[in-house]
Amino acid sequence: IRDSADGASSYAANHIIRRINAFAPTADRPFVLGLPTGSSPELIYRYLVQAYKHGEVSFANVVTFNMDEYVALAEDHPESYHSFMYKHFFAHVDINPANVNLLNGNAPDLAAECAAYERKIKEAGGIDLFLGGIGPDGHIAFNEPGSSLKSRTRVKTLAEDTIRANSRFFGGDLNQVPKQALTVGVQTVMDAREVILIILGANKATALQKTIEGGVSQMWTASCLQMHESAVVVCDDAATDEL
Ligand code: GLP
Repeated sequence: IRDSADGASSYAANHIIRRINAFAPTADRPFVLGLPTGSSPELIYRYLVQAYKHGEVSFANVVTFNMDEYVALAEDHPESYHSFMYKHFFAHVDINPANVNLLNGNAPDLAAECAAYERKIKEAGGIDLFLGGIGPDGHIAFNEPGSSLKSRTRVKTLAEDTIRANSRFFGGDLNQVPKQALTVGVQTVMDAREVILIILGANKATALQKTIEGGVSQMWTASCLQMHESAVVVCDDAATDEL
């Protein structure tokens, strides 16, 4: 718990940097990093870019897998997760574009796209560290309430609450928000060797309480991390209101 979003984000960024540097990745043995989008990780990306610019970390031998992407939203749409990732992170660091993995929400066969993504993660040796955020309904990636805790990468229809929450990125217009997304599954996240969640703001207080103090439940999918051997939750003071 840190006093502010800034303090929590810099803590999380330093944690990621420490892990990458301790791993000392090479081209033959890259560090595999899972990444989220959303407003919560924005500051972390800013800190990571800053650290790269100061020569404190390199992403040259880091392979990334993003958590999710909207279905049928153009890749170059400003609110696609592709655009988000390049705008906030990839365009500013030394990552090799060939090492960047993002789900394609416009693939002709979405089920095949999801199966191929799972295969790619396996071929990369699994995810070393998965950074995630959570929705106000406790979803991790786009694993909406009711998702199987054993789920894998798949198409998911977004919950009404999520469409409402994310409409702020689409001019407040619910009709502009895609209704479906591709998302890694709960089990895909659980398979990572380590998971770090960033949870900021009073509007996440119920979700944080359910995630760490409630029972493990498919209705608050982030609660699955209670069963993970190496999960860290980093939050600001405001998010702890209901603990
Ligand atoms: C989206 C993403 C999640 C993210 C959540 C919270 O629904 N699919 O991965 O954790 O938003 O976003 P924010 O950080 O903007 O509240």
